[in-house]
Amino acid sequence: MTQRKPLVAANWKMNGSKALVDDMTHSLAVVDFTAVDVMICPPATLLPLFPQGTAIALGGQNLSQYDAGAYTGELSASLLLQAGARYVLVGHSERRSLFSEDDDILLAKVQQAVATGLIPVFCVGENLQQRQQEKTTEVLAKQLAAVYASHPELLAKSVIAYEPVWAIGTGEAATPEQAQQAHAAIRQLLARYDTVAASKVRILYGGSVNASNAAALFNEADIDGGLVGGASLKPAEFLEICRSAK
Ligand code: G3P
Repeated sequence: MTQRKPLVAANWKMNGSKALVDDMTHSLAVVDFTAVDVMICPPATLLPLFPQGTAIALGGQNLSQYDAGAYTGELSASLLLQAGARYVLVGHSERRSLFSEDDDILLAKVQQAVATGLIPVFCVGENLQQRQQEKTTEVLAKQLAAVYASHPELLAKSVIAYEPVWAIGTGEAATPEQAQQAHAAIRQLLARYDTVAASKVRILYGGSVNASNAAALFNEADIDGGLVGGASLKPAEFLEICRSAK
């Protein structure tokens, strides 16, 4: 019996508008927030456009590893916090692959987030080749160790997202069995660093989650919600996904 409250998170990536902020806020007003936490990561410029006083939590999609200074174009944890964010994604596969974010940078980002009072949603996941070579657990172990081996105290302050790269934006989600297997492995790997925190940490599944597959995924023992990309841009569908979590 899990004590973990599900979290359904939206990652709008470089999409969205003031109109979508309004539509989404309106659509999600009927969510039972006692059953599920809901969080939206819009582009940072849209954060202050969300109305205050709703139960929808907000997150950044990325943050700087530095706290302030001459870093043109960067956003610090404290700027995100002041714009209304409570969470921040760290290590999304698009940041790792398109923006060359490596283990050292990601550790610094998780540290910045936690030091500033943001909850990092630390993203991990294998690519297709790694899965085909049966290296999934090895890859997850390395990605998780990069942050939590040297700083186990960060785990109790984190959310983890398992996003297999081959499932992101492809329409080909992991099956509930595949996802559960990876989530259980993640929890077991994290228990090396802090057993209690590993049993409490929320592990979200991301990769082609939609209104049709969400309930089966969220029903698995170690899946504590989702990180939703494309389907989170459609208010009615995202509402359905939020309602699938209990
Ligand atoms: O962070 C969420 C994301 O990478 C998954 O995207 O479009 O496959 O739901 P999507």
